[in-house]
Amino acid sequence: MNRREFTRICSSMVAGAIATGSSPVAHAASERAEYPKTQLLGDKNEPLTADSLTTGIPYLFFYPFISTPCFLIDLGTETSTGADDLIDKNGVGYQWQGGVGPNKSVVAYSAICAHKMTHPAREISFINYRHDKTSFYSHEGRNEERTRVISCCSERSVYDPTDGARVLAGPAPQPLAAIELNYDNATGALFATASYGGDMYERFFDKFGFRAAIEHKVNDPRKLVGDTSTIKKVSDYSSQVIKC
Ligand code: FES
Repeated sequence: MNRREFTRICSSMVAGAIATGSSPVAHAASERAEYPKTQLLGDKNEPLTADSLTTGIPYLFFYPFISTPCFLIDLGTETSTGADDLIDKNGVGYQWQGGVGPNKSVVAYSAICAHKMTHPAREISFINYRHDKTSFYSHEGRNEERTRVISCCSERSVYDPTDGARVLAGPAPQPLAAIELNYDNATGALFATASYGGDMYERFFDKFGFRAAIEHKVNDPRKLVGDTSTIKKVSDYSSQVIKC
């Protein structure tokens, strides 16, 4: 397929999205973008409860669009105080909500790297959560070792999911976009309700929309995920998970 054909198909997909009433994705980078409330389901499509997550295992779900992946992680440590000094690449500040769940340890972030949009795909994932000790070079050139990081092996951006996915290392210009979670104290259920911080959705669709449509077997990768989204372990979604 040549470039002209590729451009034509992508353009018709955008036109189709408008015609079918898909949600527009353009909005100011750090605004809290509210989407329809989506309940997270377990791998048997049962309502997911926060205490059923295995600590330290990264899960994937799609939100707010059917093709945009997010990490769901029980960090195993309380993160109740949200960082209030995060800054997106446009210089706009925002506050992270912190963890939710019975131990305030469950967090969710867009799994699209803020550098060049590396993301988990069925064949391979170069970006993943590392609960074990991981070493990397900080921006100050120090060799650091930390547990609980999200690491993108494409160009080694490292994010801190205990602190709003703040960038610890590498070329990423901003934190991963945060996914706002609501936790139901009575039932333990989890809901995704919004995305905030500097999201990459529009750029993701521009660059990967065509491939995402094929991967998800849909005509419109920009379609909102809807009432429910089923989680999967990253290792069950991607055939190969690269560690670095
Ligand atoms: S795409 Fe993730 S570090 Fe470059």
